Amino acid sequence: MSDRYDAIVLGGGAAGLMCAARAGQRGKRVLVLERATRPGKKILISGGGRCNFTNIGAGPANYLSSNPHFAKSALARYTARDFLALVERYGIDWHEKTLGQLFCDGSAQQIVDLLLAECANGDVEVRCGEEIEEVTHDGRFNVATQTGNYEADALVIATGGPSIPKMGATGFAYDLARQFGLKVVEPRPALVPLTLGGEEVLFREISGVSAPVVASAGKGRFPEAALFTHRGLSGPAILQASSYWYPGDPVTIDFLPEQEGDWLLERKREQPRATLRSTLRDLLPQRLADILADKLAIETEFGNVPDKDLRAAQERLARWTFHPNGSEGFAKAEVTIGGIATAELSSKTMEAKRVPGLYAIGEAVDVTGWLGGYNFQWAWASGVAAGDSL
Ligand code: FDA
Repeated sequence: MSDRYDAIVLGGGAAGLMCAARAGQRGKRVLVLERATRPGKKILISGGGRCNFTNIGAGPANYLSSNPHFAKSALARYTARDFLALVERYGIDWHEKTLGQLFCDGSAQQIVDLLLAECANGDVEVRCGEEIEEVTHDGRFNVATQTGNYEADALVIATGGPSIPKMGATGFAYDLARQFGLKVVEPRPALVPLTLGGEEVLFREISGVSAPVVASAGKGRFPEAALFTHRGLSGPAILQASSYWYPGDPVTIDFLPEQEGDWLLERKREQPRATLRSTLRDLLPQRLADILADKLAIETEFGNVPDKDLRAAQERLARWTFHPNGSEGFAKAEVTIGGIATAELSSKTMEAKRVPGLYAIGEAVDVTGWLGGYNFQWAWASGVAAGDSL
């Protein structure tokens, strides 16, 4: 005998809980099956424990996907302001940190509590510690776990991506999608630190140094902080750029984005006795200034340096090219790029076009946000799109 539901949501994370709550509140009988012993574990560790729960400026341009138009509909129908209104309805105090990023003043637990309260309002049953053994489909969806068999008209894949396997993340969503004949765009780690080798290991010696830069990779260009680490490059600017980076590609850093025009030549005119090293030390953390000065190898006073050499140095500082030899992989990636192909899904409902009743939402889908609350906004928006349609 199976327990019967209108919908079973696999995964009690951000997208799954939001989806279940919406459907439950519309009168659907919904079951959430979560493998971990508690729901929303990634929410709890997010934003340094304060959950960067949305970005007030979130729009389709802040997402990567094989189809950049796919996210438009869901993001337009459930916006950052909609989620903020929910946060305020629960009396959760929040603040904007920077660049539209909204965080809880208190703790990420408040967001998990909000989602569970919303689920309770919709009489959603949330079962944790459920290991999914088999999913079959004979008109209805049947899910077998070690505790029993569950049956529903609709099944929602909300088990996220494989980033941070230490927390139990796997490619389960992709295996299940493939079982139903859905294509999967090759997943790769994103929002991830990049590693340096060869001559560039020198920069690993300044581990812990950070500076505001503009980092670019492919079509991504991000004015934020870069951080040198004992393995290579990190910090928000690099994490953002990593989503646009493919193995073999360069990453370009403008170390002095605030400086304009022929600023080094102006320095030469104003301070002919100064050196490149002393000038860089004025503008950058000393250890970084020194390593750049070593590499540029212009040690004499400005007055003795030809203009063309200073122009070349300025150009190099504005477009310093690193050649990362890899990334720190899924173990350190905040999110996964790729996933269940958007071509398989309705952008309005997240339902699989070829398998009625099957839905996929959240990080499992080939839609990935920038750093800064965009990924949760996609989880909420795609969860609502499916939850309102189940
Ligand atoms: P999510 O991973 O949240 O949930 C999937 C759920 O499915 C999990 O609870 C998992 O246990 C469960 N599951 C997996 N396999 C299963 C199976 N076989 N059976 C049953 N259940 C299964 N984003 C953001 O916008 N702001 C932020 O501040 C941060 N911060 C952040 C920090 C860190 C360290 C990480 C790793 C990630 C972030 N993110 C973030 C990204 C954000 O956490 C992520 O995009 C969302 O959690 C995705 O929501 P989903 O519900 O799709 O997956």
